[in-house]
Amino acid sequence: MRLPLLDDFHVHLRQGEMLRNVVPQTAAGGVGRCVVMPNTDPPVTTMEQVRAYRAELEACNTGIDFLLSLYLCPALTPALLRAAQAEGVVAVKCYPQGVTTNSKWGVSDLAQYDNLFAAMEELGVLLLLHGEVPSRAEADICILNAEERFLPELERIHQKFPGLRMVLEHVTTREAVACVQALGNTVGASITAHHLELTVDDWAGHNHNFCKPVAKYPHDREALRAVVAAGHPRFFLGSDSAPHPRSAKEGACGCAGVYTAPLLAAYLADTFETMGCLERLASFCCEFGHRFYGLPAPTGSLVLEKREQVVPGAYAGVVPFRAGETLRWSIRG
Ligand code: NCD
Ligand code: ZN
Repeated sequence: MRLPLLDDFHVHLRQGEMLRNVVPQTAAGGVGRCVVMPNTDPPVTTMEQVRAYRAELEACNTGIDFLLSLYLCPALTPALLRAAQAEGVVAVKCYPQGVTTNSKWGVSDLAQYDNLFAAMEELGVLLLLHGEVPSRAEADICILNAEERFLPELERIHQKFPGLRMVLEHVTTREAVACVQALGNTVGASITAHHLELTVDDWAGHNHNFCKPVAKYPHDREALRAVVAAGHPRFFLGSDSAPHPRSAKEGACGCAGVYTAPLLAAYLADTFETMGCLERLASFCCEFGHRFYGLPAPTGSLVLEKREQVVPGAYAGVVPFRAGETLRWSIRG
């Protein structure tokens, strides 16, 4: 099965030694172009950091086309956005404070960014939303309903800035799928490979499947699968591949993040076959996303073979998704 190289609209490539391992593994997983998340330490918020981060990524010489993003914070201005756009920044990523990895610098009040959102709407810079509100016992909010409780905020921003293209990242619930479907053509959603497979039972007590947002109920996974199988053009691949060292995942307080990059195309082929819609794989991974972003079609291709493989136990100290399990598909090397 020949496919264009994958477009991954949400990936964590990290820094330093981890980056030098992860970027080649991402290329091996079939990705030709990706939107790189800015939740490094410290986060990407200045032109100097954009340039330095791009240089670090490109020094790996993988041929991947890196689309960078900035971390939403008070330092971002319309002038900075304009300069950043000229250097390949396509989006601003919003992390609500404290909901996930390196989100301590995140946003506590989205309303304060209206001026920036107006500038983004005009420039065509996308707003990428980690769509969860922080847990709050007095409001009965926990990680199981944190995404659903965020949806009114998405609706509010869309009503105020109908021309602002927004992506609700890594959707996990029936409610989020319905909300994005109901909103206008400027609102899309990314879906990960792992959320098409997992439900609560798979991560409770299993640290390596723990990520934010957490996988939800079987009916939620069904809603994700249904919208993908229907070929809805505003739902596309954003793997949220998020490597953490084994020790950080297996400690008493395990980090959130599932690592899918090294075998991304193979996981997806396996899952789409399970879903009975392999014919949707190419549009989900290589077409709908770039159309929504307004980017050219991908160049280059990869070949998937119907050949079983066992997922390795680790890649340079990072345990991948479905380690030790057998996948029905392999990426031709
Ligand atoms: C991500 C990470 O580790 O950087 N973790 C995750 O569980 N998805 C952060 C994020 O995208 O929320
Ligand atoms: Zn992420």
